[in-house]
Amino acid sequence: MTPLLRQVLSQVDGPDPRINEIVSALVTHLHAFVEEVRPTEREWIAGLDFLIRTGQMCTPDRNEFILLSDMLGLTTAVDDVNHVGPEGMTPSSVEGPFHSPAPARDLGAWISFGPERDRAVPTVVHGRVLDCDGTPLPGALVDLWQANDTGLYDTQDDTQDAGNLRGLFTTDADGRYWFRTIRPSSYPVPTDGTGGELLHAIGRHPMRPAHLHYRVTAAGHRPLTTHVFLAGDPYLGSDAAYAVKDELVCHPRPGTGGWDMDGPYEEIAFDLKLVSLDWKDGQ
Ligand code: BEZ
Ligand code: FE
Repeated sequence: MTPLLRQVLSQVDGPDPRINEIVSALVTHLHAFVEEVRPTEREWIAGLDFLIRTGQMCTPDRNEFILLSDMLGLTTAVDDVNHVGPEGMTPSSVEGPFHSPAPARDLGAWISFGPERDRAVPTVVHGRVLDCDGTPLPGALVDLWQANDTGLYDTQDDTQDAGNLRGLFTTDADGRYWFRTIRPSSYPVPTDGTGGELLHAIGRHPMRPAHLHYRVTAAGHRPLTTHVFLAGDPYLGSDAAYAVKDELVCHPRPGTGGWDMDGPYEEIAFDLKLVSLDWKDGQ
C-alpha cells in the first residue's frame, strides 16, 4: 500500500461502518487502478468529463448510469450476489431502463395493439408461477413488458399508445398465466449517449437478444425480476446487457391449438419459480 493510500484510508471514519467499508474498498481499488494504468492528466480529465456528461444525459425517464452499469456487466454482478436461492429457482436478471406501470389485463388478453401485430409472428406466452418446491402460486402478479418489432418500447415511441406491449396479469387458481402478443425481436440499446460512446470505443455491438421482461410478485415470496430469451437468437452469447442465463432461454414452438388464435402462431412456455421468504442461505 502506498503512503498516500494509507493516509486516505486512515481518514475514513464516519458514523456508518458499512459506508466506511464501501468507501475504503472503492478508494483502494481506484488507487490500484491508477497505479496499474498510470493515466495521463488528460486521460483522467477525459474520464471525469465522461461521467459529467453521463449525469447530464439523465432525466426522470432515462438513467444513463444504469445503462452504463448494465453494459459493463455490473448490474448483473450485483444481481448475482444478491439473488442466491435454492436449487430450481428461476434466476433473476437485470430490470433495464424501460419498466413502467402496466395496465391490469385479463388472462388471455392481447398486449399488442399497434401495427406490429400485423407484421410480427403472433405468439401465445403461457406458464405457471410456482414455489421452488413446485406448489402453484395463485393470485401472483405477473408484470410484463416488451419492445415492438422495431425494438422500441411505448415509452420511447410516440407512435405507440401508452401500455402497448405491457400487461399486469393475476395467476389463476393453478398459478397459471397466459397472454397473446407478438414474437419479441432483438434490438439495440440506446446509443445516443455516453453508453453508446463507450460501446463504440471498445468495439462492442449494442444488440440485446430477443426477450420479454417479467416482474413477478406473490405473497410470502421474494419478488422476481427476470427475462425470457428465445433460443436461436444470434445475440444470446453477446448480450449488450449481460443478462442471459441458460435457465431463461426458451424454445418457441409452433402453436398446436387451444389458445383462441386465428391462423398460425407460436407458443412460448415459461414457468417461474419464486423463492419463499422462509428460505435461508445454506438450507
Ligand atoms: C432492456 O432490455 O430493456 C434493457 C436492459 C438493459 C439495458 C438497456 C435495455
Ligand atoms: Fe428489453
